[in-house]
Amino acid sequence: MDLKSLIRDIPDFPKPGIMFRDITTLLQNAEGLNYVIDRLAEEHADQGINYVVGMESRGFIFGTPLAYKLGAGFVPVRKPGKLPAPVHGIDYELEYGTDRLELHQDAFQPGSKVLIVDDLIATGGTAAATAKLINQCDCTLSGFAFIIELTALNGRQHLPDVPINALVQY
Ligand code: PRP
Ligand code: ADE
Repeated sequence: MDLKSLIRDIPDFPKPGIMFRDITTLLQNAEGLNYVIDRLAEEHADQGINYVVGMESRGFIFGTPLAYKLGAGFVPVRKPGKLPAPVHGIDYELEYGTDRLELHQDAFQPGSKVLIVDDLIATGGTAAATAKLINQCDCTLSGFAFIIELTALNGRQHLPDVPINALVQY
């Protein structure tokens, strides 16, 4: 499957100089959506993943069907002030700004294996911050899964030493 043909490139969004890789055109395409979820599920099957963690908001879109396929639970990592119960929180940097992420303190059963999923890794700030949040919990990070990796930004170098899968590189 030619994923790049399903991902739309929008120059200068949301700021001048950013080439935005738009996954809404991939989501619209039934075969494309099926393909990316099935590919990620194949790569992470039989790893005993208990929870898929997805980051707001595009991580929710891919993380939930992947969790369903893996027979795992889904845990949302959210932008500040959205989660109602006590949270762990961390500040992080984006390719185009800064933000904060939060995770419910009681999100995982102790000793669980966790897979972090997002649509895209750019600087790696979001994924690295999510890994640090998971570190604050009594569970093990098994790996990262992305649809898109922007290789020029070297996001991988900010991530802990666990397997990192990305289906398409720019
Ligand atoms: C985007 C994307 C990743 C993150 C990647 O999310 O979905 O989560 O940026 O960038 P990084 O590797 O430099 O951290 P964004 O914060 O724009 O939020 P959204 O999913 O709600 O659009
Ligand atoms: N998130 C961070 N950088 C991005 C980009 N270039 N395209 C889409 N989402 C992004």
